[in-house]
Amino acid sequence: MRILVIGGGGREHALVWKLAQSPRAPTIFCAPGNAGIAALARLVDIPVDAIDALRDFARAEQIDFTLVGPELPLVLGIVDAFEAAGLRILGPTRAAAQLEGSKAFTKALLDRAEVPTASYAAFDDAQDAHRHLDSVGAPIVVKADGLAAGKGVTVCTNLAEAHAAVDAAMTSGAFGDAGNRVVIEECLRGDEVSFMALTDGRTVVPLASSQDHKRVGDGDTGPNTGGMGAYSPAPLVTPELEERIMDEVMYPVVEGLAAQRIPYRGLLYAGLMVDQGVPKVLEFNVRFGDPECQVLMLRLRSDLIDLVEAVLDGFLVGCQPSWDPRPSAGVVMAAAGYPSAPVQGTPIYGLDDRGALADWNDGVVFHAGTTLRDGQVVTSGGRVLTVTALGDDFTGAVAHAYAGTERITFEGAHYRRDIGHRVLGKRGDDG
Ligand code: AMP
Ligand code: GLY
Repeated sequence: MRILVIGGGGREHALVWKLAQSPRAPTIFCAPGNAGIAALARLVDIPVDAIDALRDFARAEQIDFTLVGPELPLVLGIVDAFEAAGLRILGPTRAAAQLEGSKAFTKALLDRAEVPTASYAAFDDAQDAHRHLDSVGAPIVVKADGLAAGKGVTVCTNLAEAHAAVDAAMTSGAFGDAGNRVVIEECLRGDEVSFMALTDGRTVVPLASSQDHKRVGDGDTGPNTGGMGAYSPAPLVTPELEERIMDEVMYPVVEGLAAQRIPYRGLLYAGLMVDQGVPKVLEFNVRFGDPECQVLMLRLRSDLIDLVEAVLDGFLVGCQPSWDPRPSAGVVMAAAGYPSAPVQGTPIYGLDDRGALADWNDGVVFHAGTTLRDGQVVTSGGRVLTVTALGDDFTGAVAHAYAGTERITFEGAHYRRDIGHRVLGKRGDDG
């Protein structure tokens, strides 16, 4: 079996790592991959948005199926292009990927399907947006409508911040075209949960729950990032809450899309705010979360290839993934300057020649922004590694992950010291 994975982050390393364990012993290709993935897959030097080149590669290499990590190729229509060429690929079509690609599209769908979410208004005109802010007041959330690499959202505690966020998006073009339209929405309170499920367009199968840490700094301070760490399960997601999320969010969304003749196939990720047991949608992602994927793959016992094939065959019904009951935790080590201007090319010390920690049995070091330069692993992105571990309990999982991070050094490396604080009860709510 020949599999192509698209992407080169910690998420894709975790997917490749899990696929590589399959008894079906697949040959794995990864475009573009990173220094850690290179130990498990053949790296293909094609960027994630070069859809035609990826399709041609998959055809020439007789790839059995392709797994897409990041949202960009999905939003650009990679699934449509592969399917038109008769190639199997896991993910939503371009139309379905609007669930992540356009906040205005998603809000309209949620309204129609009566899925609970923050109230909102969308604006194409900056003056209108400013007037709206003055009428609703703060706290308030300002979002660039399009894709902005997780950085287009500003949670504003006061109106001055909110006006500045509208100006940044609509006037200064801080997020490029993604900011031509802004969505202004009610600020929700509660605990944030990442809820991921696989769906073939009819059946929805939930994966284990997880939570991530969005802010760059300890105590949930500083700017939002793609995620500085994660753990699974999220104790907040009780069986009752899971049932509620499935009934009130996941099924209505998949069915609402189907009613618009937009079948959704692939991984669906709901970012939820849970307040006193009531889930409300913050956002959808059309792909695995990163770093949530890393903590999930470490716990997944089922063969990932079987799960992917069940989705591709439209036969998820009756499918139940099995999980290691032990919790997992992942700590993201980031480059100096992340999230605004990460420093690249810094040598990373402590890893063996496969990019792993020698004699470490507690977990896996998943690479993200790493590359090989003259035989030395160096940083090549903002989030550099996710050191991910299992433990008999949360305390153990977190302790093992931190023991891993302590063996790795690079200049300017920074990571949060409080991953898991919500379950370990050290601090209050995350942001
Ligand atoms: P998004 O990309 O829409 O998920 O937003 C990024 C982050 O901003 C979320 O993970 C939340 O932490 C925060 N956020 C987004 N929307 C809201 C909201 N309506 N109320 C409170 N926080 C929000
Ligand atoms: N960790 C959040 C995300 O992947 O969007």
